[in-house]
Amino acid sequence: MSLRIDILTLFPDMFGPFIGTSIPKRAADKGLVEYQFTNIRDFATDAHKSVDDKPFGGGHGMVMMCQTMFDAVESAEKQDDRPATRVVLTPQGKRLDQAMVEDLAKKPRILMIAGRYEGFDERIIEGLRPMEISIGDYVLSGGELAAMVLIDAIVRLIPGVLGAEQGSIDESFADGLLEHPQYTRPRTYREMSVPEVLLSGDHKAIAAWRLEQRKQRTQERRPDLWQAYLQNDDGRTG
Ligand code: ADE
Repeated sequence: MSLRIDILTLFPDMFGPFIGTSIPKRAADKGLVEYQFTNIRDFATDAHKSVDDKPFGGGHGMVMMCQTMFDAVESAEKQDDRPATRVVLTPQGKRLDQAMVEDLAKKPRILMIAGRYEGFDERIIEGLRPMEISIGDYVLSGGELAAMVLIDAIVRLIPGVLGAEQGSIDESFADGLLEHPQYTRPRTYREMSVPEVLLSGDHKAIAAWRLEQRKQRTQERRPDLWQAYLQNDDGRTG
């Protein structure tokens, strides 16, 4: 069974080149993923096709309204029997990491809501009970790019999408360490040489060198990941 990804947005056109290129396209071409778009504005009922309004209590910006959002979600969900995992992309959400991506990649259906403007009427969250996901501590103009980030991270984990490249996924992040440095031809470029061990043909030595590099990098660059790794390692060995 393929994964169905529903995308609710005011700007479905933003997704065209993304789902029509590279891995996200390959996933759909192989029948492993299906993308379905719902334009939230299609559910506006007034002459201006409004989807947002001024915030109660005053303040800047506009807030996405309940009715268009609830109607769009209900319309999309009716199109298929599979239960949808609802996701709202918002800087208020839980910060995305690989463990969350792995979890989502196992679902039969994900419905992503990308909002524009200053935010959502809180009753959308209260009534639809979606997962709220942030892709990082910065503010985008809307949830569309965040939805694309999430889609990309998910579809590459679906068995069969990457084929022979699949193995590379298992190494990075899954065990909590950053990747080791990689090199390709030529052996020397502008007086910079490839580490000798990689040319040695000694697979055990190469594996040991790579693991050491991964640990060193993680320790230097991501003390947060390093601490988590050490704790897990204690759990495994101690
Ligand atoms: N919408 C706006 N900013 C966002 C972010 N950082 N993550 C997810 N959705 C967003």
